[in-house]
Amino acid sequence: MITAEAGKRAAAVAAIAYIPPGAVIGVGTGSTVTYFIDAIGESGAGVTRAVATSIDTEQRLRRVGISLVALEDADKPLALYVDGADEIDFLGRAIKGGGGAHTREKRVASASTAWVCIVDDGKPVDHLGIRAPVPLEVESTALTEVVAAVTALGGSPELRARILTDSGNPLVDVHGLDLFDPLRMEDALEAIPGVIACGIFARRRADVILVGREDGSVLTLIPNDEGSSR
Ligand code: 5RP
Repeated sequence: MITAEAGKRAAAVAAIAYIPPGAVIGVGTGSTVTYFIDAIGESGAGVTRAVATSIDTEQRLRRVGISLVALEDADKPLALYVDGADEIDFLGRAIKGGGGAHTREKRVASASTAWVCIVDDGKPVDHLGIRAPVPLEVESTALTEVVAAVTALGGSPELRARILTDSGNPLVDVHGLDLFDPLRMEDALEAIPGVIACGIFARRRADVILVGREDGSVLTLIPNDEGSSR
């Protein structure tokens, strides 16, 4: 198992303890979440129904015997949302969408009482935007205007080649944005006509961050305590 994988798996297994008995939970997308789904299957955590955020997650949940509930049919708020991140700061603000699922992820995270973010120790950052670009899901007919608007905001947009979202839309990865105020940039990007959602999660921040390390230990960060850990 390579280093990041051990950390992802450790964080994912630690998230099992946060599942309320009998709850319908929201489940994100990505390789760390894949470990979480496997861990649900192995743990007997009692999850029988979940709201998924991508076709990939739907398939994996079904494989471990969990039934799917559409977000619109679920009782809201969901008690728990578990998902990873491409970068996360110590206030729980994140960049997501490396897997292109951030629009649905944002909807489910926003409909949940608590978001437990599971990451390996390469993901926490002091300031967002250090490594990860900000993904945008864009209406295909609006690409030209969106590229111009994002450039005017100081970003360098790059179309993600040969990839469409589950909804059939293109993705644009924006490098070089000033993310000193992530919430302001999230609002600015989502105000551009044709942008369906951006990958900045500052309006809906993580409530708990579980950081898995290569030795299998897990650091728990509570973002509202401005980086204090236990
Ligand atoms: C998918 C996401 C993922 O949570 C993010 O890309 C992290 O993925 P991984 O767990 O594979 O590192 O936002 O849209």
